[in-house]
Amino acid sequence: MLTESFAVPAPAGDALRQLTIDCLSEHGWSQQNFFLPHDLTLALAAECRALNGGGAMALAAVGRGAAQALRPEIRSDRILWLNAGQSAACDRYLLIMNDLRLALNRALFLGLDEYESHFAFYAPGASYLRHLDRFRDDDSRTVSVVIYLNPDWLTEQGGALRLHPDGAAASDIAPEGSRLVLFLSADMAHEVLPATRDRLSLAGWFRRRA
Ligand code: OGA
Ligand code: MN
Repeated sequence: MLTESFAVPAPAGDALRQLTIDCLSEHGWSQQNFFLPHDLTLALAAECRALNGGGAMALAAVGRGAAQALRPEIRSDRILWLNAGQSAACDRYLLIMNDLRLALNRALFLGLDEYESHFAFYAPGASYLRHLDRFRDDDSRTVSVVIYLNPDWLTEQGGALRLHPDGAAASDIAPEGSRLVLFLSADMAHEVLPATRDRLSLAGWFRRRA
């Protein structure tokens, strides 16, 4: 039996995740390439395509509660909310996001209690005008997450996520497969620019209970 305590080196993935979290706290947003394992990205992309092809995804609404409405001139992606147990790939993804939630809480004391997420399918030309993810009457959404499912995205295909940080220049992020983007839901105005090819993603929110 070992009685001494050894410094166990953290896996490389932990160091990278820490950098991503540090960057979020410093700038209000961060991105990490190759966040999801490649095989998981492919499985999630295939699932999203199958759901869309099978008619399971619906035009996303804007607003909340009584103010909720379909406004395709504002937002024209189709979405499907995830439920635990819907597929092995979704469950793997939800476990990874739970680890990220705990890491955010440890590093930034955010007190994030839960995660909600949906697949999003933007057909060519679909977009989402500039908005904030936090609702006027519900401040539970704290950190927004987007993970992209599109292998070999080219800048000229459009579809960037454009972030508008307060007091800083806008940043365009291409929706390349396995890439993670995090930003603070309350503060970060952002928009999705139209693309010339299908644009698949998982959008999610770490929330605090009221
Ligand atoms: C959203 C959103 C960004 C993206 O769903 O609220 O802003 O890049 N998505 O898909
Ligand atoms: Mn948004």
